[in-house]
Amino acid sequence: MLINSNQTQQKQVRLSLIIPTYNEAKNISLLISQLTQLLDTVIPQQYELIIVDDNSPDLTWKIAQELTMTYPQLKVVNRDHERGLSTAVIRGWEISQGEVLGVIDADLQHPPETLAKLWTEIERGADLVVASRNVEGGGVSEWSLLRRCLSRGAQILGLIILPGIIGKISDPMSGYFFVRRHCLMGCQLNPLGYKILIEVLAKGKIAWISEVGYVFQERKEGESKVSRQHYFDYIRHLVRLRLSVGEFGRFIRFALVGLSGVFVDMTILYLLSDPTTLAFPLTRSKILAAELAIINNFLWNDVWTFGDIAKKQPSKKQKFKRLIKFNLVCLAGLIMNVLLLNICFNLFNINRYLANTIAIAIVTIWNYWINLKLSWRSTEIINNE
Ligand code: GDD
Ligand code: MN
Repeated sequence: MLINSNQTQQKQVRLSLIIPTYNEAKNISLLISQLTQLLDTVIPQQYELIIVDDNSPDLTWKIAQELTMTYPQLKVVNRDHERGLSTAVIRGWEISQGEVLGVIDADLQHPPETLAKLWTEIERGADLVVASRNVEGGGVSEWSLLRRCLSRGAQILGLIILPGIIGKISDPMSGYFFVRRHCLMGCQLNPLGYKILIEVLAKGKIAWISEVGYVFQERKEGESKVSRQHYFDYIRHLVRLRLSVGEFGRFIRFALVGLSGVFVDMTILYLLSDPTTLAFPLTRSKILAAELAIINNFLWNDVWTFGDIAKKQPSKKQKFKRLIKFNLVCLAGLIMNVLLLNICFNLFNINRYLANTIAIAIVTIWNYWINLKLSWRSTEIINNE
């Protein structure tokens, strides 16, 4: 899902606040009245509220549509066949007009009065401002010890898998924040489950992050939709971002492709050279095994690891050039691999398979670095007028 510019806007809309709802019939009227009272003092006539409902069985969407008669600044989207908090928020952002995109829960657990402090931070120049439970003035009301542990546990897991992103703020689990539209322009947002903020932190071009403390309130009506599935979605989301974000993510993809190549290499080496199979000479078997592994790796790297660069050079000729360069780099790596294998095997008497593993590990780092700089380097053609 792509966030685009708000070029078509008629009047100046500064804030688009998205309210994702599912079975919030008992909360939505009070929330809208509190939000409009507050925002009419902070940015009168310059904001819009967008409720995105997923066909709630309690007819939240119907109540919301009736509210639009009273509140012209309110829009309602009812999604028939989709479910999910994060995708609902993005759906709202996609149709919004505001320079600043916001999200707040519909169940009054996110105190509306915090909006004024969030907006102050935007006015000061922040790109992203997050309502946080873990800074001064923040907290949770009567959360059970289990819920506190689960929330903190999720944060620690995020810090282990994605330290560079989750570590940017004190409450990455927050579902209450504002972000400037231009920070997300052109970003392909495709989050999983509940944690839209992690996707924004990972994909957005965000320089200035600010945080505002708030106390997460007790829900008075209805119940939380958080389920065990959301925790699995969260982990999948973290792993997917880990694999897709930054050069470290690219190296992990390259290493995973290399792992598939090791499997191809070992299988062919076993089939050709093992005394119990064809018992061909070790070096010749190794060269054939490695070449097949190289072709396997090129195909996967061209589509997945370096796919973003490769698609800028789509022609068959360019692809063939990449294959040749990749092969040359890997052949150099192969020579290094065979040398290292023989040194470890013959000089240091290391078991052949362990020796092969050590050799492959060293050569993988060589292959990654040289291929990044040589085979897939995106040659931006600068037209010298
Ligand atoms: N459209 C839509 N579709 N809305 C949903 C869905 C869905 O599938 N599931 C939940 N919502 C809406 C709820 O109606 C509510 O407005 C908001 O998303 C939060 O849902 P809750 O089920 O109340 O979540 P929570 O209170 O346990 O956790 C919330 O607060 C945490 C702390 O900020 C969520 O916002 C979490 O993401 C957040 O970490
Ligand atoms: Mn809630």
